[in-house]
Amino acid sequence: MGNKLTISSIQKRKGIDPIVMITAYDALFANLFASEADILLVGDSLNMSFAGNSDTISATLEQMIYHTNAVCNGAPKSFVVCDMPFGTYLNKEEALKNAIKVFQQTPADCVKIEGGANKADIVKHLTDNGIAVCGHIGLLPQSVRSEGGYKVKGKTEQEKQQLLEDAKAIEAAGAFCMVIEGTKAEVATQIAKSVSIPVIGIGAGSGVDGQVLVFSDMLGFFEEFTPKFVKKYLDGASLVKDAVAQYAKEVKSRAFPKEEHTY
Ligand code: KIV
Repeated sequence: MGNKLTISSIQKRKGIDPIVMITAYDALFANLFASEADILLVGDSLNMSFAGNSDTISATLEQMIYHTNAVCNGAPKSFVVCDMPFGTYLNKEEALKNAIKVFQQTPADCVKIEGGANKADIVKHLTDNGIAVCGHIGLLPQSVRSEGGYKVKGKTEQEKQQLLEDAKAIEAAGAFCMVIEGTKAEVATQIAKSVSIPVIGIGAGSGVDGQVLVFSDMLGFFEEFTPKFVKKYLDGASLVKDAVAQYAKEVKSRAFPKEEHTY
């Protein structure tokens, strides 16, 4: 990886060169991803993937700050996004106070906020005060409990119009890019065409300006289920289990450690 990307270099890629984003929660994996990923997202999905909870709701700002620092330590030249967790941006003042904490306590390049037109005033308040914001529209994981599950968006004309309005409101409020999650591909494509900032999709088809995946899904570490939009690039779970089984076998048979592992 050469020099760190900037907001303007990311924006120049829109419609030209798809942006590669992947989640990272620790220094080790961040370092492994850094050479290929344009952006590392310290997503609040870490509350599920890393901490084993059933949704993202209980992630705290302190946890996000801790993991963002770990990721930045492992990938000091990567552009890093820190997710603002549930309940930390309920109004403009709270949002700014908490985003300032992220900026003062980590080297994150921007924060990410879930929501559309209803969060535009918050996005504007942050960007007016020097905090770069990545929006997040479509399926919003932080709304999973109020919506009674993860529901694909853009299926009706009304949802489509709402999403277009959300995207334009977030752009007008000063977000430099946005994630669109769990949305019908044709709607996501239309949204990408209707705003001038990059739109990075997850479960939103190929007509957007980049893609993001949760690393534990795409590397096959998470075995419970694989959402339709995930492609597994590695069978991580099998590789790890096989290696640990081999280690256990060798410990029990005293085949490990050998002379070369011994002082
Ligand atoms: O928390 C996360 O990992 C995210 C992605 C699903 C975009 O927000």
